[in-house]
Amino acid sequence: MAKIFFTLLLPLLIAFSQTSPAAGADSSFVQSVKRNPMKLRTEKLSQFRFYWHDIISGPNPTAVNIVQPPVNNKTKTAPTGFGMINMIDDPLTEKPEADSKLLGRAQGLYGLASQGEVGLLMAMNFVFSTGKYNGSTLTILGRNPVFHKVREMPVIGGSGLFRFARGYVQASTHSFDLKTGDAVVEYNVHVMHY
Ligand SMILES: *[C@@H]1O[C@H](CO)[C@@H](O)[C@H](O)[C@H]1NC(C)=O
Ligand SMILES: *[C@@H]1O[C@H](CO)[C@@H](O)[C@H](O)[C@H]1NC(C)=O
Repeated sequence: MAKIFFTLLLPLLIAFSQTSPAAGADSSFVQSVKRNPMKLRTEKLSQFRFYWHDIISGPNPTAVNIVQPPVNNKTKTAPTGFGMINMIDDPLTEKPEADSKLLGRAQGLYGLASQGEVGLLMAMNFVFSTGKYNGSTLTILGRNPVFHKVREMPVIGGSGLFRFARGYVQASTHSFDLKTGDAVVEYNVHVMHY
């Protein structure tokens, strides 16, 4: 019996005692990963320019009002429109003309978030539909005081070819129709991605 213990069981016990601490210890929350599992190459800077068409008037608006600010009997309607929210699915085109080449769409919403001036909170995804960028997106979240000459907003992420994207956009109004509210805005985009 003793002989069996030393020749058969003891080696087994030693083998188990060598492997069990790693499995038994509560270390499952940490895993080593490969150094570059996604095979990311050198980060690069891309620059784009296109035109964003916010069409409120006519039979096919691309921006629709979804929230009206509550009417306050004391102040009536705030001159800055504070509290209003529009949902958008705006075309992005190569040139300022609406019938120029469609590059993608800006989908999301903007709300009037400033009581002191007309200042938008913008939360939108640029979804591209041309060439190698077809289906890739960039996400913009930022403040847009629309009557400033140039407004800068952060690019906070992306998908597809824009995975890990970060950067900024500079928006400047190309044309604005005070009567209808329709606007064409030039977007200059600088984005770091892989
Ligand atoms: C605001 O005024 C309207 C009529 O002018 C009235 O019906 C409404 O109850 C008022 N609202 C408040 C919150 O006082
Ligand atoms: C973009 O991708 C969609 C779906 O994957 C496809 O239907 C469409 O033809 C593509 N457009 C271009 C211009 O490649």
